[in-house]
Amino acid sequence: MLITIEGIDGSGKSTLVARLRRLLDDLDPIFTREPGATWVGESVRRAIAERMDPITEALLFCADHAAHTDTLIRPALDAGRLVISDRYSDSRFAYQPVVLDGLLPDPLLWLRQIHAGWSIRPDLTFLLILPVRDAIERFDPAKKREYFENAGILARVQESYLSLAESDPARFIIVDALLPEEEIARFVADEIRMNARSSRRRPRA
Ligand code: TYD
Repeated sequence: MLITIEGIDGSGKSTLVARLRRLLDDLDPIFTREPGATWVGESVRRAIAERMDPITEALLFCADHAAHTDTLIRPALDAGRLVISDRYSDSRFAYQPVVLDGLLPDPLLWLRQIHAGWSIRPDLTFLLILPVRDAIERFDPAKKREYFENAGILARVQESYLSLAESDPARFIIVDALLPEEEIARFVADEIRMNARSSRRRPRA
């Protein structure tokens, strides 16, 4: 089963993942993330830092996703493992249309077409939502900020996330990211457990 965790920068994904590691230890999940740990992931981080043009950057995010799918996601799912990914395809569908706005006639359609036929759809996606100013207050002032991380862009990214969730309500679970960390983690862990139990009774399509 493939679980993804999504949300704008500062929404608390990393804290949630750290807590899930402890809470779900008995299920022996594989924790992973995008951009990934391979050199393709490194090239994405470099493209963001050097402000490559948005199309190059979007294609690198897609290449990172392809490598991640091929080397980790697909083999793990085939082996019947529970996979939990910190960011996944919805990060592209939420962030890149904002960055590509005005450069392509329909950025979201373009991105969906690039993913079609090979990307694996998550079984369940947790979307952490909070006011953008609260997200920004959580930023570590000592860390260099990526250009995505300004209020105007993040507000639009969050809007894209909410419209993705609206168009696929069976897959998305929206989580109030202002709730206490412990409460969020327990809720998400319980939902994953419930779904893992019912997916064991269902053969994989
Ligand atoms: P992030 O996971 O936040 O990395 P780090 O913990 O190193 O900051 O991802 C880096 C940035 O890339 C983040 O602002 C979100 C953005 N991003 C996209 O724009 N598109 C994508 O497809 C992904 C995976 C991330």
